[in-house]
Amino acid sequence: MPPVQPPPGVEGVVALTELPDAGWESRWTRIVAPAGLKERLLNFALFALRHRAGVDAVRLPVHGLVILSGPPGTGKTTLAGGLADQTARALGEPVLFVEIDAHAFPSQLLGESQRSVARLFERTLPDLAARGRPTIVLLDEVEALAVDRAGASLETNPVDVHRATDAVLEGVDELSRRCANVLCVATTNHAAGVDPAFVSRADLVETMGLPDAEASARILRDTMTQVVEDAVIDDAALGRLAEACVATRLDARRIRKLVLRALASRRELAVDPSRLRVADVAAVLAGGE
Ligand SMILES: Nc1ncnc2c1ncn2[C@@H]1O[C@H](COP(=O)(O)OP(=O)(O)OP(=O)(O)O)[C@@H](O)[C@H]1O
Ligand SMILES: [Mg+2]
Repeated sequence: MPPVQPPPGVEGVVALTELPDAGWESRWTRIVAPAGLKERLLNFALFALRHRAGVDAVRLPVHGLVILSGPPGTGKTTLAGGLADQTARALGEPVLFVEIDAHAFPSQLLGESQRSVARLFERTLPDLAARGRPTIVLLDEVEALAVDRAGASLETNPVDVHRATDAVLEGVDELSRRCANVLCVATTNHAAGVDPAFVSRADLVETMGLPDAEASARILRDTMTQVVEDAVIDDAALGRLAEACVATRLDARRIRKLVLRALASRRELAVDPSRLRVADVAAVLAGGE
């Protein structure tokens, strides 16, 4: 399904997509996550989108907010999209996926970011939710939006930061009160920079870490078989390479790019990728190319 165009002039909304979409399935199936993480995410999304409307918010304070935290390149943004796609499949009805760019808001002008953040939560998102679909909102890199007020640097106009963060907190409260069909998924690679009151509102906080040896091996195999479906893979060499990736503290994105760099390292591999072997990928890592 083609992306639904955001209404013109709606600031901060990068994309609107109606899911499920066959092209989005890999955002779920190909992301290697700690045991149980995906299951919890999907279960929570289903519970929140199906059952929240009838819940007394004092007895069960569901905010409809999930945080995915972890270092760069560990799959947070990708998995958020995958979650929306899987939720649509499990619900058996279309889900509207709304991508917000947190960096679109801060502004040098006093009070401006506060006003635009308030508009996002009080008007833009409720308007989108009013279309009636289960709606999943990605607040990508939320540390830019819900800046920890205690740690805000003096150079960045502390009054404005305070007000913008307050507006996010009020906005999340308001959205959860008004729109039971909305689930927000916030990602951050700087959890310490996110305001604790924002984190406290999250119903679920999940951490995506750097891949361990087993995960690294799975990611390497998945990348190599994307290049050549029946790639020749020496399991022992793959295991050693995976250990080396862990020792080098490579994130999942960089592990996949190692394979790409191996293809770029020799003309014969670029021309005929079926010649790619684990040793070529290991050579790139060892050479620090
Ligand atoms: N856990 C993972 N398993 C498999 N592949 C992964 C994983 N994490 C990242 N990748 C690969 O890296 C790409 C980029 O990941 P993504 O942008 O979702 O990471 P991120 O955690 O949002 O990073 P950042 O914090 O830099 O925004 C993915 O599309 C995928 O190709
Ligand atoms: Mg990201």
